[in-house]
Amino acid sequence: MLIKNRPDWHMPESQATSEAVFLNRRAFMAGGAGLIAGASLPGAAFAQGADPTLDLYPARNNAAYTLDRPVTNEADAASYNNFYEFGTSKDIVASSKRLVSRPWTIAIDGMVEKPFEIGFDDLVRKLPLEERLYRFRCVEAWSMAVPWTGIPLKAFVDFAKPLSGAKYIRFETFMNPRMAPGQSQRWYPWPYTEGLTMAEANNELPLLVTGIYGKPIPSQHGAPIRLVTPWKYGFKSVKSITKISFVAERPKTFWEGLQASEYGFWANVNPEVSHPRWSQASEQVLGTRDRKPTLLYNGYAEQVAGLYKGLEGEKLFM
Ligand code: MTE
Repeated sequence: MLIKNRPDWHMPESQATSEAVFLNRRAFMAGGAGLIAGASLPGAAFAQGADPTLDLYPARNNAAYTLDRPVTNEADAASYNNFYEFGTSKDIVASSKRLVSRPWTIAIDGMVEKPFEIGFDDLVRKLPLEERLYRFRCVEAWSMAVPWTGIPLKAFVDFAKPLSGAKYIRFETFMNPRMAPGQSQRWYPWPYTEGLTMAEANNELPLLVTGIYGKPIPSQHGAPIRLVTPWKYGFKSVKSITKISFVAERPKTFWEGLQASEYGFWANVNPEVSHPRWSQASEQVLGTRDRKPTLLYNGYAEQVAGLYKGLEGEKLFM
């Protein structure tokens, strides 16, 4: 069953990043995607421009995080997305407008001093927000470089007060098939879940992202709050989070649940470890004709390689 219903990101990289896709995308943008973005579709959370967190943007840029390449064009990043809750193509901008991102509550539970729930608009004003330029590498072998705004995950962990027995942090996306038609496709292990070790969560890099390009994050990128782990393949960066749990056991993740022979827990970027069906040696830079060599840990080895000392027996790169 899993093989029959293979999602379209299981294509070989040559197809996943074909020029036609990029050119079509550009034609689509030129031809009126702006109109779609501004349209009032059923379920839109609030009228455009009325986001209650608008005053927080742009946030202070943390200059410690620099890029080795130009920032991806905003329209390209905002129109080539993976968000299976709203469809299996890259073209989910219109359907993702069904996402109702207010009110939005996040449950914090599991091994914490005291489980609690917090509204997104409270959370985002309680913890520090900053902007960082990060590379982002999808397992499909396309990449982008974008200015994310978010809360360093480490600051959130301190805020949540986990108990010492917590070894992992598990993130869960909302579950609402009426709002997100993709969740009616029962062969997927909904809701989308992801996880990190506590050591990874306390690293400086992961961000709980609330904004992009100096604005609140739009639906297609995972409003109102998503994870970004720039040294891992993009599927670790779970969108539209409603639950964060601190747990003792390694959580089973969405893609692992779907196809464990191809997608694992660690998913660290490594150009020398191929996906079972395509090479990871290089990547197509979104919105350009450039192919770049892929970097170990997506170029963030200095910050994260130490996390994996002693774990060499694990499948760290799938
Ligand atoms: N989160 C949820 N809830 N659903 C998804 O389908 N796709 C993942 C990740 N987070 C996904 C998700 C994958 S495969 C990628 S590459 C990134 O989101 C894409 O992020 P972007 O669309 O903002 O570029």
